[in-house]
Amino acid sequence: MKKDTKVVRGGLNKKRNAGVVNTPVVRASTVVFENVAAMREATGHAKTFAKSLYYGRRGTPTHWTLQEAITTLAGGADTVLAPSGLAACTLAILGCVKAGDHILVTDSVYEPTRYFCAGLLQNFGVTVDYYDPAIGAGITDLMKPNTTLVFCESPGSLTFEIQDIPAIAAVAHARGAKVAVDNTWASPLFCQPLALGADLSIEAGTKYIVGHSDVLIGAITGTQDAIKGVQKAAGLLGIAVSPDDAYLATRGLRTLAVRLRHHQASALTVAKWLQSRPEVKRVLYPALPEDPGHALWKRDFSGASGLLGVVFKTTSQAAVDAMIDGMELFPLGYSWGGFESLIVPAAPARTTQTWTEPQPGIRLHIGLEDVDDLIDDLDKGLARFRKVLG
Ligand SMILES: Cc1ncc(COP(=O)(O)O)c(C=O)c1O
Repeated sequence: MKKDTKVVRGGLNKKRNAGVVNTPVVRASTVVFENVAAMREATGHAKTFAKSLYYGRRGTPTHWTLQEAITTLAGGADTVLAPSGLAACTLAILGCVKAGDHILVTDSVYEPTRYFCAGLLQNFGVTVDYYDPAIGAGITDLMKPNTTLVFCESPGSLTFEIQDIPAIAAVAHARGAKVAVDNTWASPLFCQPLALGADLSIEAGTKYIVGHSDVLIGAITGTQDAIKGVQKAAGLLGIAVSPDDAYLATRGLRTLAVRLRHHQASALTVAKWLQSRPEVKRVLYPALPEDPGHALWKRDFSGASGLLGVVFKTTSQAAVDAMIDGMELFPLGYSWGGFESLIVPAAPARTTQTWTEPQPGIRLHIGLEDVDDLIDDLDKGLARFRKVLG
């Protein structure tokens, strides 16, 4: 099956769906058994994380459909669901580490993932170092005997560097470490980190999989070996996802391919327009031939999504605020990946001093509105920006 077909048909199961197209929302805490033997059998299946009805926290057919669809698309052995994208990132890490371990995290990581490392992981005796996202095979110099995980995010949050996952994975595996990739920007439609050598691929399903800005959900897909640790961590921690949210995520997933291609086309148009503007120093969007990550993006991705960054030649907080506050079609809000356009100010926080561009910039999510209307709104916004800078 081609990827677009997997998006539409992955996880569909006539029997499970009782004759209707979509798996119904199965709401459950308690599952009742015919007899003690049936209970024992289900309990045995639960220990192996098989998709068998045992107790609501361990998932229902509504969850299995989504898990199977994402697993098929991401090309893994199984998928663990989490109640948010951040929970998927933290769970992936927890599934790979123990006290005394050391992990390497890209300096372009989504900031709350960094807060988890500093605020909780280090309390449990796991040490963390940050690396330049452009490091590639150079990661070898940072590996320690106790390094068990390299955490990547490609492209990175706010700064959009593409990472060389095959080069990093080759080094990590030679040293017995695993590689996890936050793949939210591309979604499993446009990039499959497992095929590039990663062990775990993480999605904030909240973004493009859900696609409508109304559900928080996360997913971790892994190789047979790597997913076991994540399943165990999720089971022990009592991680559970609402079946209503799993249902909505599956519904969103079915239109991922058509939505993402529209996001891509409009984002590329906006990115090119922004590049031609006198206020703009750089547009951070790997699909642009001028982007430093373009060659890797072309090698490893089959498309680009709707999220991009803008670096201004000269900037000030007041100028960026004036631009943002007057936008009509770009509401100010966190998150992205829904049908709508969004804007936020962007000032990346780094540990390795590898980002020296003028701050603040802005981050734009290019939604499914008419692209001419979006450009018109941005044009007016840049006029406000210029007026403040004088
Ligand atoms: C790259 C990336 N990963 C993870 C997350 C976390 O997702 P959630 O908001 O569902 O916790 C986000 C949210 O913005 C993100 O941008």
